[in-house]
Amino acid sequence: MSDLLRLENVDAFYGSAHILHGLSLHIQAGERVGLVGRNGVGKTTVVNTLLGLARLQQGRVWLNGHEHRRLRPYMAAQHGLAVVPQGRRILSNLTVEENLLLGAAVGRAGPWQVKDIYRLFPILQERAHTPGTALSGGQQQMLAVGRALMANPALILLDEPTEGLAPVIVDQLAEVFNAVAEQGTALLLIEQNMSLVVRVAKRYLAMAKGSFVAQGEVHNTRESLHDLESHVMV
Ligand SMILES: Nc1ncnc2c1ncn2[C@@H]1O[C@H](COP(=O)(O)OP(=O)(O)O)[C@@H](O)[C@H]1O
Ligand SMILES: [Mg+2]
Repeated sequence: MSDLLRLENVDAFYGSAHILHGLSLHIQAGERVGLVGRNGVGKTTVVNTLLGLARLQQGRVWLNGHEHRRLRPYMAAQHGLAVVPQGRRILSNLTVEENLLLGAAVGRAGPWQVKDIYRLFPILQERAHTPGTALSGGQQQMLAVGRALMANPALILLDEPTEGLAPVIVDQLAEVFNAVAEQGTALLLIEQNMSLVVRVAKRYLAMAKGSFVAQGEVHNTRESLHDLESHVMV
């Protein structure tokens, strides 16, 4: 089976700043992977590299089995990879519903339609015709997740989706991520909240200074939680 996302020995830069060092990563259909590490280690740069927003200087990147040497932001969606960016990036001049429909612009067939997103997040239906940025932070995150699902991705990359959100919203998102994974979509969950990682992921990659320094299985246990926390404390 080919990987939905594969990076081999990737070095990535912003200008002359060398951020990723020899990074390799494979994600297959249906996998649930947690990507953890302290602020500034390069987690978002992994996403930015496959979107072509950080410069791939060395190494190789495959999106759903297709190798690309000149990556562009639209390529990921075309290959079934949807990104929920850090900081959400909801468009202020579009309504909630228009933001969702934008997610479907890539035109991939699949199970997710607006009505399904409203079933997942009823509050979005109540607020369907208000500007996206009029929503609370938690609601905007739901909208960002809904928008990504509208692309009917085989893999969804979530970059710190619970940053700054109240525990009750984090719990709701955890349930949604598990429901999405059970329906067959692979997840790459970039998180600082390890109690969320143990509830959602089955394996983890721990990053420091632009490289992976540890990896292993994840279980929803205290031991697994402590193991993960040890990798982000160092
Ligand atoms: N656009 C950019 N230009 C230059 N350096 C950047 C840019 N974005 C991030 N960086 C730097 O790259 C490093 C990794 O950042 P990032 O991937 O955002 O880390 P993380 O997501 O793990 O917090 C940090 O040192 C950060 O300051
Ligand atoms: Mg980041």
